[in-house]
Amino acid sequence: MSLTELIYAGSNAVAGLTEGAVKDAIEKHGEGHVVGFPDTAYFLPVIYAATGVKIKKLGDLPAAVAILKSLITNKDDLGDALNAGLATAVGAEIIEALRYVEGDPYADDSGIGFVPDPVIRSLGVPLVTGDIPGIAVLLGESADPASLAAIVKDYQEKGLLTFMVGNIIEQAQASGVKMGLDYRVIPLGHEVTSVIHVVSVAIRAALIFGAVEPGKLGDFLTYTKERVPAFINTFGPLDEVVVSVGAGAIALGFPVIADTVVPEVAGALMTQADHAKTVETSLEARSIKIKVTKIDVPVSVASAFEGERVRKDTMFAEFGGNKTKCWELVKEADLADVEDHKITLIGPDMDDAMFAGADVVRLPLGIFVEVAGKAMQKDFESVLERRIHYFTNYIDGAMHVGQRNIAWIRITKEAYEKGFRLKHIGEVLYAKMRADFNNVVDKCQVTLYTNLEDVERLETEMVKPIYNQRDERLDALTDESVDTFYTCTLCQSFAPSHVCVVTPERLGLCGAVSWLDSKATKELDPAGPSQPILKGEAIDACAGIWQSVNETVAAASQGAVEKVTLYSILEDPMTSCGCFECICGIMPEANGVVIVNREFGAISPVGMTFGELASMTGGGVQTPGFMGHGRHFIGSKKFMSAEGGLTRIVWMPKELKDDVGERLNKAVFEMTGIENFVDMVCDETIATESEAVLAYLEAQGHPALAMDPIM
Ligand code: SF4
Ligand code: NI
Ligand code: NI
Repeated sequence: MSLTELIYAGSNAVAGLTEGAVKDAIEKHGEGHVVGFPDTAYFLPVIYAATGVKIKKLGDLPAAVAILKSLITNKDDLGDALNAGLATAVGAEIIEALRYVEGDPYADDSGIGFVPDPVIRSLGVPLVTGDIPGIAVLLGESADPASLAAIVKDYQEKGLLTFMVGNIIEQAQASGVKMGLDYRVIPLGHEVTSVIHVVSVAIRAALIFGAVEPGKLGDFLTYTKERVPAFINTFGPLDEVVVSVGAGAIALGFPVIADTVVPEVAGALMTQADHAKTVETSLEARSIKIKVTKIDVPVSVASAFEGERVRKDTMFAEFGGNKTKCWELVKEADLADVEDHKITLIGPDMDDAMFAGADVVRLPLGIFVEVAGKAMQKDFESVLERRIHYFTNYIDGAMHVGQRNIAWIRITKEAYEKGFRLKHIGEVLYAKMRADFNNVVDKCQVTLYTNLEDVERLETEMVKPIYNQRDERLDALTDESVDTFYTCTLCQSFAPSHVCVVTPERLGLCGAVSWLDSKATKELDPAGPSQPILKGEAIDACAGIWQSVNETVAAASQGAVEKVTLYSILEDPMTSCGCFECICGIMPEANGVVIVNREFGAISPVGMTFGELASMTGGGVQTPGFMGHGRHFIGSKKFMSAEGGLTRIVWMPKELKDDVGERLNKAVFEMTGIENFVDMVCDETIATESEAVLAYLEAQGHPALAMDPIM
């Protein structure tokens, strides 16, 4: 069979299966029965994107099957055959959706199946920063499990996000590959149709970040080809269905690299039979560049290990976490006073004789990183110090939680047995500081203290006074006190017209970019994503309108957005890319707003989940009434100041209330004299129904009820 014949054979087979499955489901459950995936605002995302049709019940499916069949022309033309591959994708989406009709089909599977919207949103930042440089989709069953596992581990160490379909999941697991979202290796499922769940991720990226209009299939294909850095590796012999799935992938712009002999299509379909070269061939095919920092430690160090948790039963040593003291400090020093790459441990290490026979090694720890460089500024100390958290977490076998003098580090037995010792933390910090901050750090030395006397004395004499000075500086840092704001355009790689305006009192909506971060980014990468905006006179200081901001945003968004009001949700609000930590929406009957964070899965008082609220805005488009923002912005005196400010907040999930409560209370008290404002804000443990929320607000005398009408 020729390639096109193979593709059509697969597509026709899937079309037949889909048609039959839809018929059976309608017979069994009736046309009115609901069909859909969990926690998404985009219905059956691939069908919605391709056609604009919102499939909600089984009765909607026959029309989709008809469209699917129309995509299969059976003409001997490669372009047509690739479209037939898209038909296979549509068929796979329908078959998978039908599997969800009777509950979660992945409940007892090693695969996770459908990937919910909030997970995709959380991947936005690592993808735009290049922290996740690409997406690998692995499919099939390998004749050689050991080399398969080596491929997965290699992707993991390079930071890629890997999705797996088929028996390779168990094969890799058996070879010791660590899996789960936390390890950036995601098993989707065993049936070949489960590959649709990664296609769905790519398509929803275009909906969420790209604001591509549903129904414009061509625009989606352009988006995935240009902006989603994915590719496919197949293992083992290919049947027609896999070939037609591959055709669909190629239509999306994702090259397919097979380990068996396939008819090659330049740049799109190729054979690489040597597993030792699979990674290299794949990265080249998708033009993915990997930045490597060689670090001399006995374990892997990669961003893919960032989410790893170290539990009690796998833990060898622990520092901080209320059991011992643990602090970390980055301090600027004179070039002459820093000896580059000097790593010193003062005090006992994890393998000290005194721990012989101990259950767990517990030591106090002080991590003191001194950096020097001509372009280094005092303001960057905290930016670099915050990176200690990430860099330490990159270590396979280390967990880092917290910051400053509430840091908490755990090391696994596995890492210890491989020879990992405290000085290696110093090695990792040294290497990453030099690599990631090369423009400002010319020299770096790390000293680790583990004698209680040193750790305590230095904390009192050196560490705490520096933290205090920084806090004073941060408190004094207001939008009025600086003459420069910054743009951040990092997310433009996914949301082409989105621009964040970062000010001291309004951080980037992802929560990851503060004004100080932007300032440091400008220094590190002068032509990069953070560009200064010389503020000048305000047109309206309360609403946050500046001529300079409007002009910069217009230029940086290529004219897509002409005016931005920094402190308003209604009048020219700042755009959202899609990766915001929180979404704020108006609750008209309460004369205020609700805020929902990404982690909250249930429905909010405005009748929508985070995912549904989030889908109202995004892609760099202004949507009055909806605003994506960072957690830290709650507690800023500039929050919605055009509409009356923080006292408009009427409802937040409990966890978010607890997280931001202290700052929020302080800001509201300073602005209005109201004490313990957070207690007046409703949450899901009190009420989620509109009427009950209102009753609570009234009982609390919530100030929003007495404010001017919000709209
Ligand atoms: Fe994206 Fe804005 Fe965060 Fe920059 S500050 S990474 S543009 S969300
Ligand atoms: Ni880790
Ligand atoms: Ni973003």
